Order: sequence, then C-alpha cells, then structure tokens
Amino acid sequence: MKAILTGGGRATRLRPITYTWNKHLIPLANKPMIFHAIEKVVEAGITDIAINTNPGETELQKYIGDGSKWGANIHFFEQRGGPLGIANVPKQAEEWLNGSPFLFYLSDNIVLGSLKSFADHFINGNFDALMALARVSDPHRFGVPEIVDGKIVYLEEKPAVPKSSYAVTGLYLFSPEFFDAYSTIAPSARGEYEITDIYNWFLANKRNVGYQEITGWWKDTGKPDDLLEANALLLNDRAAGAVRNEGSVDETAIIQGRVSIGKGSVIGAGCLVRGPVSIGSDCVIERSCIGPFTSIGNNARITDAEIDHSIIFCDATISCKRRLVDALIGKNAIVTSAEDTKPNGHKLIIGDNAVVEL
Ligand code: G1P
Repeated sequence: MKAILTGGGRATRLRPITYTWNKHLIPLANKPMIFHAIEKVVEAGITDIAINTNPGETELQKYIGDGSKWGANIHFFEQRGGPLGIANVPKQAEEWLNGSPFLFYLSDNIVLGSLKSFADHFINGNFDALMALARVSDPHRFGVPEIVDGKIVYLEEKPAVPKSSYAVTGLYLFSPEFFDAYSTIAPSARGEYEITDIYNWFLANKRNVGYQEITGWWKDTGKPDDLLEANALLLNDRAAGAVRNEGSVDETAIIQGRVSIGKGSVIGAGCLVRGPVSIGSDCVIERSCIGPFTSIGNNARITDAEIDHSIIFCDATISCKRRLVDALIGKNAIVTSAEDTKPNGHKLIIGDNAVVEL
C-alpha cells in the first residue's frame, strides 16, 4: 500500500502564523506537524509516501528530505490548477500510485494511537473504501455519515442538520477505483472536489465501504486553539523514554514531570519548569516559570516570564513580567515589558490578523 499526505493549502484561519509558515510545518510538541503524520504512516507499515506542495514552495522538501530518516521513500508533487479540493490531491498523484491502494491522510489531522489496525482492517475486510470516524460535538463543520443498522448509507459535507454525531476524519483508505469515482464527480458549491462525493460513488455503486471509529483522541487543527490542544496532547502522550535532558540546569532550578531539554539549552537559577514541556536546543531560560503543556522552539530566549499552555516558535524572545497563557508566539517574535523603556506604554508592531489580549 502507498500513502498520500497533504502538504499544500493556505490555512487562512491560522494567520498571521501561516503568512510565513506552511501550516504543516507548525511545530507541535517541538516537531513539525507533518512529521507526526509521517511517523503514524510509517508505523502502520507504509513507506512509499507522496506529499503535495503548493506550486513553487520548497520548504517541505527542505524539512522532510527524502524520507530516509523514517526509513521511507518520500516523493513530492506540486498541486496544479489552484485549490480544487482535497479529493483532487490523489488525482494529481494518480501516475505515482500506479494502481496501488492507498491511505490518504490530511496531515493537519492529529491522532493519538496507531493507524496499524485501520490499515489491517482495510486489507483483511477486503474493503474498497474505508474511513475513520470520530464522535464530535460540532459535526456540521465536517463530512458527516448517515449510518443505518451499522452501515454507512450516505455522506454529507458540512450538513446544516447532521444525520449523526460523527465526523469523517482526514484518514481515508481507497482502492484504485477512487479514480473511477473521481471521473464522475464535479466541484461542490464551495468549488471543491469533495472526498464525501467519492465515498457516495462507492456507496451508490454497492462497493464494500466500511468505517472504523477513532476512540482515542483526534483533532483537525484548523484554528489556533486546536494547535494548542494538539500540542498539549502530544506533549502528554510522549513516552517517558522519549523525554531527555541534554541541556544544563542550574542546581536551584526546579524541573517537575516530563520535561525534555535540547542540547545547548540553559535553564538558569530560580526557574521552575513543570511538565509536560519540550524545550528545544540552544535556548536560554532565566528567572521564568514554564509549563505545563508548553513547547519552546530552538534558540528561544525567555527571561522573567511565566508561560503556560503555549507554543513558542524558534528564535523568539520573551522578556516580560507577565503570565502568557494559550499563546502562539511566532519565529523571531519579541515580547518585552512596557515598564523597561520610556515612554511607558504598550508599543505594538502587529501584523495583519494578529490577536493580542492586553
Ligand atoms: C475536510 C473534509 C471533511 C472532513 C475534514 C476532516 O474538511 O472535506 O469531510 O470531515 O476535512 O478534517 P475541510 O478541512 O476541507 O473543511
């Protein structure tokens, strides 16, 4: 089996971060979001992986490489013709798939737990199409199945009146008949080729369509709050063995719970770091209280701050006598204290779509 992962799109709901970052490279638990997806796919036993990119973009290739660090072969393909919807992504990799069944994974979907049983169920159950469902409180935001006597009969994309409390997640398995289905569908009202229409073709043509419920945690990270929640859950989910201190910690600093500290990072006198927390390499943290549920990227400098349930990107500087909660602080961003300079007051240089709570 092969796998196709999404790596394109504009992620407008995550601006301003996504003005300069491909959404799939946003760090969660100090690892680009798409790395989590690649790890899951490889762990399920699939090593032939293709990832789509926005035309002209090369960032994903730089971060991911050829896949050898996961023991996988990773191929990139440009998404041509503009944003035509997620069902159009596999269509553009049809030649690469070369008749293979495939796992299609929206890389902004974060799951805890293994995908192995999902892939095994597809093969052992002889399915033509399989989907992963998750129970949600707001199904109208997703593709939603209508289920009768344990069988899916129809799917609706973003229904005003959902027929069940399940969301179709961004994890799909298809036989090569995907392309027969694709050739019959047209863009929806939102101008996109919809995955739900593909499934409805399989259903209408009496193919073997199944589902598996994700009973663990699942999230599609469309909004800033989703990123913070995913970051927290992924930090919490790390095995104790994966949490290492490779930095140096002053003897008066207190480290509690699962805290990883990267090479060259220095945790100075009087700091309290309360896990789960991940601190990258070459960071300097002084007189600060970090955590829980906080990731700090490489080369960040944090002084006199309290940071809780937040994602701090690499190279950020935070030096303020304030408590930051639920914060997303981008690369190279600076947060300092108004009291330290004259005239006193909040001096803000804020890009489009930023959110500041004073
Ligand atoms: C897409 C799919 C939808 C699915 C969701 C899961 O929605 O169209 O069926 O439930 O992903 O993340 P979109 O992210 O395009 O709104």
